[in-house]
Amino acid sequence: MTEKTTISVIKADVGGWPGHSNVHPRLKEEAKKMLTEGLKKGTIIDFCVAHCGDDLELIMGHKNGIDSEKVHSLAWSVFERTTEIAKELKLYGAGQDMLKDAFSGNIRGMGPGIAELEFTERKSEPFVVFMMDKTEPGAFNLPMYRIFADPFNTAGLIIDPNIHDGFVFEIWDIFEHKKVLMSCPEEMYDILALIGAKSRFVIKRVWPKEGKLPVDEAVASVSTEKLFQIAGEYVGKDDPVAVVRAQSGLPALGEILEPFAFPHLVSGWMRGSHNGPLMPVAQKNATCTRFDGPPRVVALGFQINDAKLGEPVDLFDDVAFDHARKKAQEIADYMRRHGPFEPHRLPLADMEYTTLPKVLKKLEKRFEVV
Ligand code: F6R
Ligand code: MG
Ligand code: MG
Repeated sequence: MTEKTTISVIKADVGGWPGHSNVHPRLKEEAKKMLTEGLKKGTIIDFCVAHCGDDLELIMGHKNGIDSEKVHSLAWSVFERTTEIAKELKLYGAGQDMLKDAFSGNIRGMGPGIAELEFTERKSEPFVVFMMDKTEPGAFNLPMYRIFADPFNTAGLIIDPNIHDGFVFEIWDIFEHKKVLMSCPEEMYDILALIGAKSRFVIKRVWPKEGKLPVDEAVASVSTEKLFQIAGEYVGKDDPVAVVRAQSGLPALGEILEPFAFPHLVSGWMRGSHNGPLMPVAQKNATCTRFDGPPRVVALGFQINDAKLGEPVDLFDDVAFDHARKKAQEIADYMRRHGPFEPHRLPLADMEYTTLPKVLKKLEKRFEVV
């Protein structure tokens, strides 16, 4: 146990209801029951169970630090038990993200997605948990860049002396399993050269520079587990989550939400093989229906108090995001009309499903040299 507080967001798709659209209430109930047990045992201090599309999301406050065996094992046991229930109920794709059988100390690399932050609580500590469905970790690149690097989004980068020096981005190459720390604004153009290639380079964490906050405590974290690399084959886009701390020495809550007023195009959607707009929604509307989407993002806001999360505020459950939703639906119409053509359908290398090798095989003898 440390004096520092840790927020752990651990998520998995353990079965959809119906199809890949939503999470059955029984799974959420069971998760709440089991996390209440964890709370009584002192493993965690508080929790919130949520969902986005078919993903079951466990948000936990505790003092056990990042990568805590106790906390990860609690989350793993919740996913194991809810997988059993999903099987009993014949929910769709039961146990979809449970790629390994035995827990061995850490949930990383086992299928579920994880975003964690450990920090010294300030006098008041607001943060936001973002949960996305039907997309991939790179979907966070654009909003994270806007929040922590773009003065046209974050006014504080220009007018607040506490964040005027910018932030440090930790960028992962998720194909090569390498990472690099890059300083912004000094290396802004090089950062953009990487993170624009969002299926490969993803923002994993954001760190503060020397100033108001300890430089060794990250202020934002994104889940970057790549399911297809874990399982050895593509088993689904790994719908990502992120935690972002806000205010006094960090972007304001409204600067953190502002990028989502623009429903940018992300990869995923139907069969993990299409580009589509990311639609910000209230949790009650986090149901992936149209063409298994469009991809959605939910934002829950908390005011943590000595690792107690308290009640979440459903931040996109607000008229201020109506226009973004409407725009997302217009974009969805526009993209859908391309049918099987790129750039609606993803380029071959990024598709989760493809029949192309079979089609080519069938035509092998009929192809002539030109
Ligand atoms: C995308 C997703 C869904 C499924 C689609 C087909 O990430 O989960 O769009 O890919 O519903 O699912 P299966 O192959 O299970 O019938
Ligand atoms: Mg699913
Ligand atoms: Mg999902």
